[in-house]
Amino acid sequence: MIPLVGLPGDVKEMEKGWGVMSISSRYHHNLRFTVQGKHLFFRRQSTPMEFFETVKSRKSVRAYDDRPVPDDVLAKILESARLSPSAKNLQPWHFIVVRDPAKRAALSEGTWAKFLKDTPVVIVGCGDGKASPHWNTIDTSIALQTLVLAATAEGLGTCWVGSFDVEKVKALLKIPENYDVICLIALGYERKKMDLARTLTGGAKRKAIKTIVSYDEFGRQG
Ligand SMILES: Cc1cc2nc3c(=O)[nH]c(=O)nc-3n(C[C@H](O)[C@H](O)[C@H](O)COP(=O)(O)O)c2cc1C
Repeated sequence: MIPLVGLPGDVKEMEKGWGVMSISSRYHHNLRFTVQGKHLFFRRQSTPMEFFETVKSRKSVRAYDDRPVPDDVLAKILESARLSPSAKNLQPWHFIVVRDPAKRAALSEGTWAKFLKDTPVVIVGCGDGKASPHWNTIDTSIALQTLVLAATAEGLGTCWVGSFDVEKVKALLKIPENYDVICLIALGYERKKMDLARTLTGGAKRKAIKTIVSYDEFGRQG
């Protein structure tokens, strides 16, 4: 019996199993430890199904309660963005964590952004057009969506917000000339209230899979 005490936090939560592994890394699905000549590996409890539950539970949240987002949770969410892929690994992104109430009020000027003044955190995703002219928008968007899913997994609500004036946001937050503002992400704990519209409609509808996926050529069904 191998005590799990003293192992990193994510290891403690792993399921134990025996086997021989050729790869040992905390970023792989399994971790290997060698104990008295035997290989011990731990299989992560995080299965593809759990990930899909996170994907399914994400929704745009536009009403937040007053609870602040704890610093360690925020750090974890930002770390997920940092680990995201980018073209040529240029990482042409910058994330501004806006908590200041006056600045959040200014960010909420957009027609569809009114709720940002009552949102504990707004993350402003910026893309460096000088470092990566062709890919900064895609790269920053990927990082922001990774962050959104990480936040969902941490029990937080999020909402993408594209309703803003780029030049006003740049001036407000002193964003350098070579950066574009890609999108804002609202972040906080959802204010639990009866969301009648969502209950009645069954949530935001999605197109049927066969209308958005083709096989081998556009329009061909598998
Ligand atoms: C790029 C982008 C911009 C968006 N801008 C806004 C916005 O300005 N205000 C808002 O309330 N929701 C905004 N949304 C959220 C969408 O309305 C929402 O994702 C969509 O209706 C599907 O609903 P769901 O996120 O709950 O599944 C935006 C989403 C994306 C991806």
